[in-house]
Amino acid sequence: MDKTTFEDRKTISAPMHSPLRHDSAHKHVAGTADYIDDMPEPEGTLHAALGMGDRAHAEIVSMDLSAVRAAPGVVWVMTGADVPGINDISPSGRHDEPVLAEGKVVFHGQPIFAVIAQTREAARRAARLAKIEYRELPHWTDVTDTLASGAQLVTDPLTLSRGDADTGLASAPRRLSGQMRIGGQDHFYLEGHIALAIPGEDDEVTVWSSTQHPSEVQHMVGHALGVPSNAVTVQVRRMGGGFGGKETQSNQFAAIAAIAAKKLKRPVKFRPDRDEDMTATGKRHDFLVSYDAGFDDEGRIHAVKANYAARCGFSSDLSGPVTDRALFHADNAYFYPHVKLTSQPLKTHTVSNTAFRGFGGPQGMVGGERIIEEIAYALGKDPLEIRKANFYGEAGSERSLTPYHQPVEDNIVGRIVDELERSSDYQARRAAILDFNRTSRVIRKGIALTPVKFGISFTATWFNQAGALVHVYQDGSIHLNHGGTEMGQGLFTKVAQVLADAFQVDITQVKITATTTAKVPNTSATAASSGSDLNGMAAFDAARQIKERLVAFAAEKWNVPPEEIAFVPHHVRVGDALIPFADFIRQAYLARVQLSAAGFYKTPKIHWDRAKGIGSPFYYFAYGAAVSEVSIDTLTGEYQVDRVDILHDVGRSLNPAIDIGQVEGAFVQGMGWLTTEELWWDDKGRLRTHAPSTYKIPLASDRPKVFNVQLAEWSENAEQTIGRSKAVGEPPFMLAISVLEALSMAVASVADYRQCPRLDAPATPERVLMAVERLKHL
Ligand code: MTE
Ligand code: HPA
Ligand code: MOS
Repeated sequence: MDKTTFEDRKTISAPMHSPLRHDSAHKHVAGTADYIDDMPEPEGTLHAALGMGDRAHAEIVSMDLSAVRAAPGVVWVMTGADVPGINDISPSGRHDEPVLAEGKVVFHGQPIFAVIAQTREAARRAARLAKIEYRELPHWTDVTDTLASGAQLVTDPLTLSRGDADTGLASAPRRLSGQMRIGGQDHFYLEGHIALAIPGEDDEVTVWSSTQHPSEVQHMVGHALGVPSNAVTVQVRRMGGGFGGKETQSNQFAAIAAIAAKKLKRPVKFRPDRDEDMTATGKRHDFLVSYDAGFDDEGRIHAVKANYAARCGFSSDLSGPVTDRALFHADNAYFYPHVKLTSQPLKTHTVSNTAFRGFGGPQGMVGGERIIEEIAYALGKDPLEIRKANFYGEAGSERSLTPYHQPVEDNIVGRIVDELERSSDYQARRAAILDFNRTSRVIRKGIALTPVKFGISFTATWFNQAGALVHVYQDGSIHLNHGGTEMGQGLFTKVAQVLADAFQVDITQVKITATTTAKVPNTSATAASSGSDLNGMAAFDAARQIKERLVAFAAEKWNVPPEEIAFVPHHVRVGDALIPFADFIRQAYLARVQLSAAGFYKTPKIHWDRAKGIGSPFYYFAYGAAVSEVSIDTLTGEYQVDRVDILHDVGRSLNPAIDIGQVEGAFVQGMGWLTTEELWWDDKGRLRTHAPSTYKIPLASDRPKVFNVQLAEWSENAEQTIGRSKAVGEPPFMLAISVLEALSMAVASVADYRQCPRLDAPATPERVLMAVERLKHL
């Protein structure tokens, strides 16, 4: 390292809180970032494809795979009976999810066998040659059918209650009830699922997997192979998006690739094509919410009773925690004096639904916001007025208790909403829109301001831990590894900033390395938006340990008190001397100081008793608010989002450039969920929307025409998080609820706002048109 270039620089290049670009941004754009399918294939690599069932629910009477085996290029055909360990990859421990179905199929598209061939094309062609006889059994795929067919559950439901909801409803001056359907969502990550398994000696195997949860892939591969976890190494450098879709859904591809690789003693790569990926992997849960609310003439809520029924698919997967999180967010930012919320995680003959950005929270919140809208229309008031009348109160007040009895102590929703209301000119624009709608015949406009309060922490308390491994080499360069995974969200950049800041070196001195189960064990999924909270702190802890050793070394060597030793830009200050960092490290090495450390962090304070429905599952809350303005065409139902203003809270941002990107991306993804993305199963239980031709994600041209995104710069996390920042990945997704409510207002104008349009999600142009027609004939 050249001393002279650093001598006069007073700062480092990218400390915490600086707007550094994503470390791979230029590589994403140029196509030089390596994803698993870009890695050079090892000599002799074979390829896998799935053989999938084509009944929603049926016994497999016979299965003739001879034509598959005889097809050109086929090396092996694997069935459930070939799984050497346990044919189960259930992440919930309920043993309800086979790697490959045996004896019966429980959804249309369920994997029954896998073909391993010389090329992917050969494997895929051969997979279609199976002759399978079925005896069909009754199936139900939709929430309504399932409720009518006995409502079997995949996991235990949850009840949250406080006060006395029935009495509260009965004594309220006004009351209303209704139902709302909220659709699911496909993850549509740009890089689909993929696994590359490379067999090692004895029982060993290395799997490159596009996963948010390498430790779980490791455990699942171990179980399926019948080998201990120490035989399996799972690695991932980056994903081309995960969005929750790679929290558990990677297990199947990794398990199949690993089993085949061990059996055939050759590398096996498994990359399903988009149709297979969309058919065979779980999605966001769709819900049917039934609500009953009691309120007064001022719009103050007295009591809420609501049931959240969810299409979970054939197995439990993550449906327990997802439906729990829906209940945890049914209140959004509002105090319910009396409340009873119940979940119904329904077993359906569809693919098993899974994590998706917000993890049930968005569905919970959309239900809560519907109640607000209903009250506003019933009273003929601006929904914003109802929202404000029901915000949680001061910390410590009676109005600060959530339905799970955790007090809201960091409430800033009032300030966020007031600032946004002013900066977006909400009141004047709403008045202008009301005016416009009085005279405009075909085009109608709507505007809505909705808040977000989102709980941060895994509700499974033990997941809130993380580890990091940091090495400082003799030349002063730093090697960073932690348990988190990179899926485009910028986690690696943020954690590298934490480390650069801790040692006061340039970010270029910190090498970001692939996540591997061999360096940091027993990690949690990178999920629940907690990646930087957990791994940032673990890396910080590793740096602290190394720095403590370095300080002790310097104090002894140069005989200065430890308080007079400090890490300053590119140097270590020892008394009056400034020693360049690399020289200092070299001296420490020669003095035999250990320059490597494993850091660890666990979130303090949180606890949760699910059976009682009481606890403090969240370390803190993240807040935000959005104003959306839309126009609809009342003759066709088509619409556009004209303008969006957002004020979002990330505490003291670790990296404002990345955080703004997260807010924008989350908003657009949320908007897609609530507007154009519709999943459609036919009466045979077959998913008909399994490709971009039939499933419509937002295009660049669908973005808001004016899009003003601001971070609440004054905000600081009241808890001791890394740099006082807050999690950002999921909370802004729910800002898109403002688009749904703005569409609702535009529709309501057709009947002079006399009725809440009860627009279900997704509000596709068809649904908007149907809602307009209903109101026209009121
Ligand atoms: N951003 C990008 N670009 N790609 C993704 O897959 N996943 C989201 C969010 N932002 C995702 C993303 C989800 S579902 C979560 S939980 C968080 O990122 C996870 O990362 P974090 O905890 O590091 O924020
Ligand atoms: N969020 C995201 N993923 C999870 C959670 C959660 O609360 N619990 C288990 N996996
Ligand atoms: Mo995000 S749904 O918690 O992976």
